[in-house]
Amino acid sequence: MTEALEPVLVVIPTYNERENLEPIVKRLHAAVAKAHVLVVDDGSPDGTGEVADKLAAADDRVHVLHRTEKAGLGRAYVAGFEWGIERGYAVLVEMDADGSHAPEDLPRMLDALTDADLVIGSRYVPGGKVVNWPKSREVFSRGANLYSRIALGARIKDITAGFRAYRREVLEKLKLQTVASAGYCFQIDLTIRTEEAGFTVVEVPITFTEREYGESKMTGPVVREALLRVTKWGLRRRGNQLRSLFTR
Ligand code: GDD
Ligand code: MN
Repeated sequence: MTEALEPVLVVIPTYNERENLEPIVKRLHAAVAKAHVLVVDDGSPDGTGEVADKLAAADDRVHVLHRTEKAGLGRAYVAGFEWGIERGYAVLVEMDADGSHAPEDLPRMLDALTDADLVIGSRYVPGGKVVNWPKSREVFSRGANLYSRIALGARIKDITAGFRAYRREVLEKLKLQTVASAGYCFQIDLTIRTEEAGFTVVEVPITFTEREYGESKMTGPVVREALLRVTKWGLRRRGNQLRSLFTR
């Protein structure tokens, strides 16, 4: 028996993505016509929230969650996932607004979800690519992944990836209210929680293309939060491994 992997909600967090939002929603619906979209806007000063309202007024598949202040990517996703779970979506997808994640890759990711609980669109498995990133950013991203793998003992190649599809059961079980990660380390946080809860995680290759309009919101405080938390989680996990050696 095949389970119902529908309906699908694509959560798109936005902060100052005015030029990017309409094109990405159009591309998404060309690729996956049935998908619903939830834009989670943190009161963008550039008027992204109004663009989202306009799209929602014209298309029943588009919804908007307005939040009052920029509170971080992780918090936006927690709010978006809770919205979607309350409304009965079976699959919750994470996708950036800036065109870095190609909606054309989503059908392959959703196919992979039939045999998995979390599908990660990965830049760092064979077939995955990054286009137009400055060398410095790629070195940073690969370094963040390498550090996470060493500190956490994780086997995922792209643990910071922001293009993903979750089955709702995973997010229900993870108790999102207990997730403290505000910024981009949310991605790492949810990956290790998903694995620790015993769910199946698979990576499928995607092509990540650097944005044309607007700028990245990856800032110093976001990076520091990630470094601190990953180190803390790593120590906890390594401590548990050691303890289990001695209590066998
Ligand atoms: N609502 C809200 N609030 N949205 C936010 C916030 C926030 O505080 N911060 C960022 N966003 C939105 C952006 O508007 C964009 O749609 C998406 O989140 C990703 O932000 P970018 O600033 O474009 O991220 P990036 O390109 O530097 O980083 C990408 O790669 C990282 C891994 O290397 C993202 O995919 C990250 O999720 C990923 O960890
Ligand atoms: Mn980006």
